[in-house]
Amino acid sequence: MQINTNDFNYVPSFKTKMTEPIHSGNLAAKKRLELLDDANYNLFKIDSNDVTIDFLTDSGTGAMSQEQWSAMFLGDEAYAGASSFKKFEKSFQDIMGMKYILPVHQGRASERTLFFGLQKLGVLKQDSIIASNAFFDTTLGWASQFARCENLYCDDFDLGNATKKDFKGDLQLSRLEKLVNQNPNKVNLVLLTLTNNTGGGQPVSMKNIKELSNYCKIKNILFFMDACRFAENAYFIKVRELEYKNKTIKEIVKEMFSYFDGATFSAKKDAKVNIGGSVLFSKDHEDIFLACRPFVIQNEGLFTYGGMAGRDMEAVAQGINETTEFSYLQNRIGQIEFLHKALFTIGIPLIHPCGGHAVYIDAKEYLSQIPETEFRADMLVALIYAIGGIRCVSIGNVMYAEKDSKGNILKPAKNDFVRLAVPRNVYSLEHIFYVINVFEKLHKVHSLLKRGLKIGPGFRNDHFDHFDCNFELLDTKNFETSVLRGK
Ligand code: F0G
Repeated sequence: MQINTNDFNYVPSFKTKMTEPIHSGNLAAKKRLELLDDANYNLFKIDSNDVTIDFLTDSGTGAMSQEQWSAMFLGDEAYAGASSFKKFEKSFQDIMGMKYILPVHQGRASERTLFFGLQKLGVLKQDSIIASNAFFDTTLGWASQFARCENLYCDDFDLGNATKKDFKGDLQLSRLEKLVNQNPNKVNLVLLTLTNNTGGGQPVSMKNIKELSNYCKIKNILFFMDACRFAENAYFIKVRELEYKNKTIKEIVKEMFSYFDGATFSAKKDAKVNIGGSVLFSKDHEDIFLACRPFVIQNEGLFTYGGMAGRDMEAVAQGINETTEFSYLQNRIGQIEFLHKALFTIGIPLIHPCGGHAVYIDAKEYLSQIPETEFRADMLVALIYAIGGIRCVSIGNVMYAEKDSKGNILKPAKNDFVRLAVPRNVYSLEHIFYVINVFEKLHKVHSLLKRGLKIGPGFRNDHFDHFDCNFELLDTKNFETSVLRGK
């Protein structure tokens, strides 16, 4: 592979002071085959000590800065009114401009708190609809208990790689208008995911945020942000949306949030911490804040710690200050764009353009020789692990397809992606080179696979099967041959 040093014409935003060993670098491919078999081909059941490069998720897996670690020593662990909460609260007020802040232990708790609060207020009723550019797994798990959920991708996303539009994470306004017209007064909440994790990690434009916000105001629909990757989204607005070129990331973030009534937030992503979250409300929504607060007390802890230690809140407050700096984001997204470019050069079919936190492979296209009902993305996930010890995740049929009670696919999901989610500030370019090298090997053998996987015993058919379902290999011989030839 040719390296173009012009891809790195920026100064890296950090250097490394502490290291963590990788134990499994010399694991034989044969051993990985055994481990896969023991784990029923579900990578969530593999020990991290048996993983060489862990691209399973960017959630809670980042490396904190020395400023975050030292802030943790200042943690005030008081049950009520901790000074660490004050800092936590102020950081969301200062950076996002939101007024009312509830702490929770992670993103899904934030969603649950919001939905219970909105139900209590009578905003979410039995026949309500929540619209999104796309719900992620656990968000869908909670939201669908309170309302009908609709994914309203934009036309550019649906056109796939036929178009290279910059903001394929947008929610198509015309689709929202249609949904609202067909269901008068039923669409009570729009939850916009920045960036769109289910949809290839694609960002949402400020233009789209503004037009949705205007429309929701006119129609009296609450407009909330799933803010997991808000800073990465702001970076794309800066570098891809011309009129924001000269604004700072912090200015863009402030403006983004100003169009929303509130937000759910998993601090495990763009606050660069290992645990934490919050629910945020604008100055106009003290009512929703007060309705949600008892659910924090009941499920998370008092509303000045919400399931976090004081030290965790210190790390979050410092973290969102750092991730909203351009130099951090340039380094972060630059690394992912480099990997994206390299895998594209090898010939791996990817989602274009590159998204924020991950590179997405189109397994439908890459393993098109395998029947669509045989979990191509999960088969590819297993192959990637077996060849190089790289752990990644499927976002496709096992998560979203319609299935019968035994796990047979009745209606395939819209997409069948493999996501390589890159943890923040954890891996160096050498690690990325290793990954590229594994993909060069894999590319030579992937077409040897003839069959995929089926779901084995213990299937529940709920929103969380991908975390613990058992797969069975349909063609052991060809799988082992491709792994052993690819190693
Ligand atoms: N919303 C989005 C868009 C997410 O990506 C996630 C988590 C959540 C909500 C829930 O947050 O994990 O803190 O409860 N995504 C992780 C992932 C797990 O791998 O993408 P959480």
